[in-house]
Amino acid sequence: MYISRLYLPIVTLFLYLGEGNGVQAITASAFAATAFDYVIVGGGTAGLVVANRLTANPHIKVGVLEAGADGLDDPIIFTPGKVGWAVGTSYDWSFQTTPQPELGNRVIPWSRGKALGGSSAINFYVWMRGNRQDYDAWANLGNAGWDYDSMVPYFKKPEHFHPPSTTDANHFKLDFVTSDHGPTGPINTVYSNQYSGSHQYWHDTLNNLGVPRRDTFGGSNWGVWTGLTSVNPNNRTRSYAASEYYRPFAGRSNLKVLCGAMVRKVIIQNVGGHQTATGVKFTYGGVDYTVNAAAEVIISAGSVQSPQILELSGVGKPSVLSAANITLKVNSPNVGENLQDRIMTVMMYEIDNSVDNQSPLSDPTQLAAAEAEYYANHTGLLTVLPNDFAYVPLRYYLTPSNITTLAGMVTGTDARTNNIKSKLTSTVDLGSMEFVFDPNILFAVDIPDFDPAKKYATVFQMLQYPFSTGSIHIPPAVGGVSPTSDNHPIINPKYYEGDGIVDLHTMVAGQVFADKIAREGPLNSIIIKRAYPPEPAPGTTMDWLSFVKSGTVSDWHPMGTCAMGGSGGIAKGVVDERLRVYGVKKLRVVDASIMPLQISSHPQGTVYAIAEKGADMILQDYLCKKRRRRGCRR
Ligand SMILES: Cc1cc2nc3c(=O)[nH]c(=O)nc-3n(C[C@H](O)[C@H](O)[C@H](O)COP(=O)(O)OP(=O)(O)OC[C@H]3O[C@@H](n4cnc5c(N)ncnc54)[C@H](O)[C@@H]3O)c2cc1C
Ligand SMILES: *[C@@H]1O[C@H](CO)[C@@H](O)[C@H](O)[C@H]1NC(C)=O
Ligand SMILES: *[C@@H]1O[C@H](CO)[C@@H](O)[C@H](O)[C@H]1NC(C)=O
Ligand SMILES: *[C@@H]1O[C@H](CO)[C@@H](O)[C@H](O)[C@H]1NC(C)=O
Ligand SMILES: *[C@@H]1O[C@H](CO)[C@@H](O)[C@H](O)[C@H]1NC(C)=O
Repeated sequence: MYISRLYLPIVTLFLYLGEGNGVQAITASAFAATAFDYVIVGGGTAGLVVANRLTANPHIKVGVLEAGADGLDDPIIFTPGKVGWAVGTSYDWSFQTTPQPELGNRVIPWSRGKALGGSSAINFYVWMRGNRQDYDAWANLGNAGWDYDSMVPYFKKPEHFHPPSTTDANHFKLDFVTSDHGPTGPINTVYSNQYSGSHQYWHDTLNNLGVPRRDTFGGSNWGVWTGLTSVNPNNRTRSYAASEYYRPFAGRSNLKVLCGAMVRKVIIQNVGGHQTATGVKFTYGGVDYTVNAAAEVIISAGSVQSPQILELSGVGKPSVLSAANITLKVNSPNVGENLQDRIMTVMMYEIDNSVDNQSPLSDPTQLAAAEAEYYANHTGLLTVLPNDFAYVPLRYYLTPSNITTLAGMVTGTDARTNNIKSKLTSTVDLGSMEFVFDPNILFAVDIPDFDPAKKYATVFQMLQYPFSTGSIHIPPAVGGVSPTSDNHPIINPKYYEGDGIVDLHTMVAGQVFADKIAREGPLNSIIIKRAYPPEPAPGTTMDWLSFVKSGTVSDWHPMGTCAMGGSGGIAKGVVDERLRVYGVKKLRVVDASIMPLQISSHPQGTVYAIAEKGADMILQDYLCKKRRRRGCRR
């Protein structure tokens, strides 16, 4: 079995002891003794955005509790060419799913960032946004203010777009409309100025299969395009929540961040007949602390741990809480439900040895040379990222009658299922499947007859609108002892179960198209043969169904576990359209978990937008209360 560079043992030269370089030092006891207005659970992607925007007002005191370490100055976090290296390290919670019956009972690894900046510290740098229809669908469920047009200002607010030179734009086929991007936000978005050796073939190949070149930031992202990345163009380092929303503002006296602090639960008390969040319990260095929040507690622990924290705090499904021997405070049946994850498969092709890629990075001498160039000049292999994307509508890989057959298999009739089903047509212009090509091994798979002297390319295929719907819940009590936040939640995405059978057939059809891409010119000029899955024996045909079942993994885009309930309220979700937890005063969830329906896009741009919008709403409510304005009661 070949171990890809994703899983190379990493020797870190520095020890990160909780309060690293950028992070302002505060002891846990000083933190606990501070009179905060807001306490944020999780200093991840969304949590640091909210902390930044609230503390722009010097009267608002904010405390952030983050379980992970500060990795701001760790090269495996900030170096683009080391994409994926932090997966499986101490910066990763390294969750896993329950055995998945439709995947041969395999247990699927689930990465989540455990660091200041959360998953934005370890993600693959892809910067994009979804389609108009994706956000309009949220609004149509009754979540006022979340339609595409209302979201555009929040998509732009985090962005600082750096337009490429005209020469680069022509040469590398960079399609963009500057006015669709934000010009002055914190997160730098930029095109690469150096590309792998396959990039020159990508657009023409998809064009030859009928997929047009398109710009992707105007509310429609299907087509073939060159990826934009969250990278600082000055020194080609990762641009993420910790480096942009936190580090430059770390000196604010009204902002305190404690890394290495594990939140146990939100303290919810009956105040004047209402369940009310008043503070947070956390553990630091083996000692338990309590911190108070005068205005609100904001949970930004991500799609896996936000529902976990709610359940540990007594908010959730009665059966889950009684099994865990936790007193029910609020019966909220959708906590941890509505889990929609992105389904992915990975293929490998042997490619011509002359193709430029990043593979020298697995050779220590060549890695040292690449590092010298990177630090001296901010150029070279360590600046190169996967850039070749296509979002392809269903009609490219399924016939109209196939699509009708699939639509007929859907049994669910609820509003969410109906929305996903409405996209199962041969006319819809939405990228139902994403394909990525990169001339490097970007994922560990078993390549038969693997030869380290050969070069391989990865083809990722990712389903965008899954029917498969699962759940994430805390485990039951053991011998009467309740679980804590140290006990990994039970993650069951139910891949391909129930209406998820449609996902399986869609993936199989997409897989045939993915293979077609590699056989089409001009890309085929560098492809030698498919290496994984291997070509079928002569006289037999490829069993794509078995391949998809045995090869399906997660693409790390879970959402929906604390979804906005819209017009269905607590019967359909966990938070309202202002992200307030149903049934609890002074408590919100702000992160990827609030998305009620999956979007056709890598999600980080949308998570930043959710956090910007969340911060705006929190500030509006704060000022309302302060000024006791009439008409301010929401
Ligand atoms: C390997 C990987 C690759 C990805 N690639 C891309 C990509 O290329 N492009 C893209 O758009 N998206 C990508 N994503 C997805 C994207 O990064 C996430 O959707 C987004 O960052 C989620 O933000 P969040 O705020 O919801 O959660 P997170 O950023 O994960 O933040 C949650 C934070 O809460 C902390 N926390 C949790 N529980 C506790 C507790 N009990 N006490 C204290 N702290 C706690 C965590 O440590 C974490 O810092 C990728 C994700 C992964 C994992
Ligand atoms: C890159 O630049 C940013 C400021 O733009 C700085 O904070 C960071 O330390 C730099 N990183 C490296 C590795 O030079
Ligand atoms: C940096 O760039 C200069 C000018 O092109 C070059 O002479 C030098 O060798 C480069 N440094 C490294 C370490 O690659
Ligand atoms: C599509 O239809 C063809 C012809 O009826 C059939 O052979 C094929 O299996 C169908 N594919 C899917 C994914 O349903
Ligand atoms: C639940 O936990 C309490 C301690 O908090 C313990 O006294 C009790 O026995 C437990 N209940 C069950 C049913 O195990």
